[in-house]
Amino acid sequence: MASRKILVTSALPYANGSIHLGHLVEYIQTDIWVRFQKMRGHEVHYVCADDTHGTAIMLRAEQEGISPEALISRVWEEHRADFAGFGVGFDNFHSTHSGETRALAEDIYLRLKDRGLIAVRPVEQFYDPMKAMFLPDRFIKGQCPKCNSKDQYGDNCEVCGATYAPTDLVEPYSVVSGAKPELRTSEHHFFALSDPQCREFLEHWTQADDHLQEEARNKIREWFDQGLGDWDISRDAPYFGFEIPGAPGKYFYVWLDAPIGYLGSFQNLAQRTGLDFEAWARPGPGVEMVHFIGKDILYFHALFWPAMLRFAGYRTPHRVFAHGFLTVDGQKMSKSRGTFITAGSYLSEGLDPEWLRYYYAAKLNATMEDIDLSLGDFVARVNSDLVGKYINIASRSAGFITRLFEARLSAHPDRPSVLERLLDPATWDLVGQLYEAREFSKAVREIMALTDLANQYVDAQKPWELAKQEGERERLHQVCSASLNLFWLLSVYLRPILPRVSAEAATLLGLGAEQMAWGQTQALGAQPIRPYRHLLTRVDPKQVEALVEANRPTMQPAAVANTTAARAAKPQEKTAVEAPPASTSSTITIDDFNKVELRVARIVSATHVDGAEKLLRLELDLGGERRQVFAGIKSAYDPAVLEGRLTVMVANLQPRKMRFGESQGMVLAASGEGPGIFLLAPDDGAQPGMRVK
Ligand code: MSP
Ligand code: ZN
Repeated sequence: MASRKILVTSALPYANGSIHLGHLVEYIQTDIWVRFQKMRGHEVHYVCADDTHGTAIMLRAEQEGISPEALISRVWEEHRADFAGFGVGFDNFHSTHSGETRALAEDIYLRLKDRGLIAVRPVEQFYDPMKAMFLPDRFIKGQCPKCNSKDQYGDNCEVCGATYAPTDLVEPYSVVSGAKPELRTSEHHFFALSDPQCREFLEHWTQADDHLQEEARNKIREWFDQGLGDWDISRDAPYFGFEIPGAPGKYFYVWLDAPIGYLGSFQNLAQRTGLDFEAWARPGPGVEMVHFIGKDILYFHALFWPAMLRFAGYRTPHRVFAHGFLTVDGQKMSKSRGTFITAGSYLSEGLDPEWLRYYYAAKLNATMEDIDLSLGDFVARVNSDLVGKYINIASRSAGFITRLFEARLSAHPDRPSVLERLLDPATWDLVGQLYEAREFSKAVREIMALTDLANQYVDAQKPWELAKQEGERERLHQVCSASLNLFWLLSVYLRPILPRVSAEAATLLGLGAEQMAWGQTQALGAQPIRPYRHLLTRVDPKQVEALVEANRPTMQPAAVANTTAARAAKPQEKTAVEAPPASTSSTITIDDFNKVELRVARIVSATHVDGAEKLLRLELDLGGERRQVFAGIKSAYDPAVLEGRLTVMVANLQPRKMRFGESQGMVLAASGEGPGIFLLAPDDGAQPGMRVK
């Protein structure tokens, strides 16, 4: 089989949030496919990067009191560690805030401009006069024009579901500063998708050559029918991104340079490893460019991106594979239920990443359907399939080989029919085609059916019985050697899914890379093996409970409810994640409420805390009694302006030991989706110590 050249990408995660189990559906799916292709001997380069630009990242950095560069480099380290922890084997994990991406973005823009595909025209948009910036829709809120619900976003109402323009909002306000936004006009740059040459190209590209899944093609047809408008690719300063060449004060919209980041990351890799970037990036046969994405970003990848590439003289994608969204126990991931599970928490709670990789593989297929992580099923499936069936084959045979046969396999292992099947090229083809087609759940089903047969073989041969019979030594050696051959082959079949366990299986059996490649047809001979140690533990349901607990929001006594730290894990607007509950459906009684002892407090002093990024140390006077409270309001308040102010505190909160000292209560502050923390204050006349009820 001729070797293919494949450039593979996963979507670039935003640099203002943590990786969560939803993201991992995509990175694990891609990684399995890539590992499979590499095992077959193809030349594959798997690249990714952080998606670092835009208003949200700029404001978040400002709120944390750091530069956007500092924020994105911190998040980059975190993302890199998360991906490494889950065995996601990028050949390069770069950043869109890079020289390569900047140069490519400028080049693509200028070539589009040369072809007459950049239009410039004025756009009227809301502007925050206090912050002196134009406001993206999600940074404007107001009253819904339909149902009058308060605090609705600029594009749609979460209460009645109406969609509208931000200019339709009643009493709009800026989420950034609270100011009333004004309409202002500025020049914007557009990619002229409505140009007939674009339309013609896209009509062909989206429908031809299996570039897209059928469901995706149908979706695109609907979009076509609604008419392709030009795409606004510029944003006004202040903006964290790349300035547009020849247009001072105008920046590329984050979604313009984000996919270019794929090429930027690849170019960075090419420079480091001596690959011929031009040969890979320019049109021509012999290279496949494959993008794995979530269904929510299909529009960008199936319309804007191929058109940009085509008309700027770059290679267009060979395939765009879109997957569905993760649900947990049948529902959207939810912070309040603790099912908004971060990758970092999964790793730090000590769960094995290969459990999740296996579970996702057992669920994934080539469609855009959502996939469900059922926590109970996760435990059951991993324990029964991986530990109970697959690992069991090795653990029941390896010990005999080490103890009784000088740790060496027989030169003539038994040849049960399941061993013949695992060595049969037809089986490799069958399972290989399923991996190739991203039908991982079907591949897992085939492999597990073979694993069942392997176990039936061991059950029937009963090596533990043979071991008791002096005259059966040779037979025992052959049976255990056959079992370890079965275990080896199953490890190769599962290797794209279980990189760690399969590597350890190779070490156990003393095998090199060649014997772990796809398509083994020769059984192992008199191979020396290492002493067996357990390769994979069972999932304890308590670990899963602890994981969910760890992801439930905890009341942070020391800080206001919605600190930037809490926001760090906040879902992106368009991921299948519940917004933090604005109101809870269950009511409480007045007695419940009275349990909370709210009191007026005077801020006697406010000081910075050494080593705390977000906290201020407040000394509060409760009408004689003094309390120390650490509050996460540093990003919003200069300590000097707080001294002498009255505020409201929870006075009967259990004290909490912190690195900096004990926090004896909590001050109340308001915050919303956007940046900004607003400390509560009583009206004039209130005295320290007064009860609030
Ligand atoms: N930054 C953009 C992508 C730019 S690509 C040039 C983005 N980032 S994201 O962090 O929100 O999502 C990254 C990928 O993870 C996307 O493909 C997205 O669809 C996927 N997922 C995010 N949440 C997900 C689930 N809950 N379930 C499955 N995939 C999810 O979009
Ligand atoms: Zn409404």
